[in-house]
Amino acid sequence: MNRILVTGGAGFIGSNFVRYLLNNDSGCCIVNLDSLTYAGNPLSLSDCEQEGRYSFVHGDILDRALLERLFDEFAFTGVIHFAAESHVDRSILGPEAFIDTNIKGTFNLVDVACNHWKKNPEFCRFHHISTDEVYGSLGETGAFSETTPYDPSSPYSASKASSDHLVKAYNRTYGLPSVITNCSNNYGPYQFPEKLIPLMILNIMEKKALPVYGRGENIRDWLYVEDHCSAIWKVFCDGKDGETYNVGGGAERKNIEIVHFLCDLVDQKLGHTGGSSSRELIEYVQDRPGHDFRYAIDASKLKNDLGWEPAFTFEEALEETVDWYLANMEWVNNVRSGAYRDWIDTNYAKR
Ligand code: NAD
Ligand code: DAU
Repeated sequence: MNRILVTGGAGFIGSNFVRYLLNNDSGCCIVNLDSLTYAGNPLSLSDCEQEGRYSFVHGDILDRALLERLFDEFAFTGVIHFAAESHVDRSILGPEAFIDTNIKGTFNLVDVACNHWKKNPEFCRFHHISTDEVYGSLGETGAFSETTPYDPSSPYSASKASSDHLVKAYNRTYGLPSVITNCSNNYGPYQFPEKLIPLMILNIMEKKALPVYGRGENIRDWLYVEDHCSAIWKVFCDGKDGETYNVGGGAERKNIEIVHFLCDLVDQKLGHTGGSSSRELIEYVQDRPGHDFRYAIDASKLKNDLGWEPAFTFEEALEETVDWYLANMEWVNNVRSGAYRDWIDTNYAKR
């Protein structure tokens, strides 16, 4: 039985991954360590709580003593590290939490994992989840490969770059078995409604302004979260020690194209007819400082070496995502409400 520590499993990608793994590999048990920041929601895994192979620990990767206790108690055979401060705009307004969690937290985790591995040869993998933002910005052409030099623009991407370097250094210096995946923008169920796609879906539903940065010309390469989960598991199981793999959905779109698509789709689903279109809600607002122009992933290494390719097409998976938000307004309202934080404190004691 693989005993896997997942960090940040109450967040967007982590919660989708925990569910994916429980459904796709019966040979794993999972301990989910999450400090439940504004972005972490135990509700996102309420359907998994009764599963005997899953347990939740409310705690912080900055708490080294807790990490040591957990490694001793569960004798993990692997780590998949999602926990992070993940939102670029927040990193511009307040970088410190990003330095703490993304750099110091990753240092704690990789260091404790390394000490554990030296005494437990069963430990086979430290998998660090990272981002294409470490590579900086592309012009009109080209794509990020695993050998593209790091050139981060925001405090968020600089903190993720730093954490990548720490994980690589532990592999080269101490031999800690590790892999890194750098992926593009994810979308899908359970994403906190501050990111572009869920924010736009909900603002369209609620007839609020749709803030588009600059002229909406910036380009992202979109990856459905379930495709990301299958890529992570493929790399965790079959990736080569010490390697980096880029993960992309092969779906480059301008931000404004996505906002237009969502306006038309949500209007159609909600029966908003009669001449007016939600496109009228679009407001071009001041651009994000240091806004990277374009991201695009060359995922050929993952395809050629491990046989992974995305299974979902962008417009279909985006429609499924819209349907999920329309059907899950209770989750949305809970994660947006202050009262919900009190409920977490009452029901999920901190370790
Ligand atoms: P998220 O913000 O939705 O979730 C982050 C989770 O980490 C939350 O549950 C939060 O409570 C937890 N967390 C934060 N600080 C913690 C701490 N100190 N100790 C323990 N838990 C803590 O993030 P996400 O979008 O799911 O991203 C997951 C990972 O994937 C991150 O490392 C992010 O950098 C990376 N990534 C995300 C995307 C994307 O499009 N969302 C793309 C590329 C890479
Ligand atoms: O590329 C991977 C990264 O994708 C991850 O590492 C980050 O954790 C994740 O947050 C995401 O970063 P972005 O900054 O690309 O995502 P965001 O959803 O914030 O913005 C997507 C694009 O949309 C970006 O060009 C900025 C623009 N945008 C965003 C918001 C929230 C707007 O125009 N208006 C908005 O209100």
